[in-house]
Amino acid sequence: MQLIRTVITGSGCYIPTQTKLNTDFKGQVFYTEDEQPITTPSLEIIEKFKDITGIVERCYASNDLTAADMGALAAKIAIKNAGIDPESLDQIIVAQNFGNVYKNTIQSDAVPSLGSHIKHALAIKNPNCVAYDVLFGCPGWILGVTQADAFIKAGLAKKVLVIGTETLSRVIDQYDRDSMIFSDGAGATVLEAVPGNENSSGIIASSMQSHCTDELHYISMGKSYLPNADPSVRFIKMKGRKVYEYALKNVPLAMKACLDKSGIHVSEVKKFFLHQANEKMDEGFIKALFKLYGLKEIPPHIMPMSIHKLGNSSVATIPTLYNLVSKGMIPDHEVLPGDIVMFASVGAGMNINAFCYRV
Ligand SMILES: CC(C)(COP(=O)(O)OP(=O)(O)OC[C@H]1O[C@@H](n2cnc3c(N)ncnc32)[C@H](O)[C@@H]1OP(=O)(O)O)[C@@H](O)C(=O)NCCC(=O)NCCS
Repeated sequence: MQLIRTVITGSGCYIPTQTKLNTDFKGQVFYTEDEQPITTPSLEIIEKFKDITGIVERCYASNDLTAADMGALAAKIAIKNAGIDPESLDQIIVAQNFGNVYKNTIQSDAVPSLGSHIKHALAIKNPNCVAYDVLFGCPGWILGVTQADAFIKAGLAKKVLVIGTETLSRVIDQYDRDSMIFSDGAGATVLEAVPGNENSSGIIASSMQSHCTDELHYISMGKSYLPNADPSVRFIKMKGRKVYEYALKNVPLAMKACLDKSGIHVSEVKKFFLHQANEKMDEGFIKALFKLYGLKEIPPHIMPMSIHKLGNSSVATIPTLYNLVSKGMIPDHEVLPGDIVMFASVGAGMNINAFCYRV
């Protein structure tokens, strides 16, 4: 039977040019949530941070660029890679969480949406190309892809550009050591409706969840940890340990739910494209997922990682990682036609999602 498949036909990313090394935080004074100075020498804190997360460096956007600018740069590459006329796009979906935050300002600017800004930057005139944003924490890009898939399968769209872009470096509190996790970037993909059958390339199934009881406060906005800081100026804050424990419990279950819906056994998955916030946490997800199938042995090179050099760029992380792997830019990792791969993310909300894809 002929089916409409949702196929990734192009990808691109923008990796910001300002590299911020862990050692650049040397001399930084950090405080705890209750405003007590952390007396451990900064170099020890940095070393511990690297041991816990795997992050060695991250990239920050240059002062002249906004999230929308970076999203447009990534989108241009994805559109060229897909070989499509941008005027033929039915939708532009932009995953973001803070709008455009201009350097050295504290206000978020999301009117008009980043989708509108990016459509403008791409000079797309077609009014039937609808541009809008989704706000779903770090799993926003996967939500965008899932929405694109639903529109395509419902016959309401044929070509959708899905972008994730963020400048987290402008919403972090320099006095909070957890801020070292966050970075900037943009990733983009073009998804197209392609006639095929159930064994041809395309999205197979997806799953998603929102946990908004106690979890609501695990990642949220709060005042600086600097004593006597202005409480009306707010930064991204997380209860790191809570996030870690929540994610380790729930992400592997959501991944299995997605595999079950797809009718795929974990051993058939060639690559896992996971959100990158903590290397050990990602290894924990894979270990726990395989354990759900009674498997202890994890095949080598199953999980490409970008965290060491790119940190956690939120919604940009997974499309960037996919773009790098699909273009052979991460050693020991490639995707080949016919491979089954899985994407999964977790973040503020708290939200979790995943989708299975045949390359
Ligand atoms: C934030 C995070 C790095 C903290 O690590 P942790 O191991 O949970 O930290 P704990 O609070 O249990 O403390 C363990 C030790 O690490 C230290 N530590 C905690 N946070 C630290 C940080 N950011 N940098 C350096 N050291 C840190 C503590 O002081 C403690 O040191 P000690 O053993 O000498 O007493 C980790 O919990 C994490 O990565 N969580 C998930 C974050 C995430 O996924 N975010 C998603 C955003 S979308």
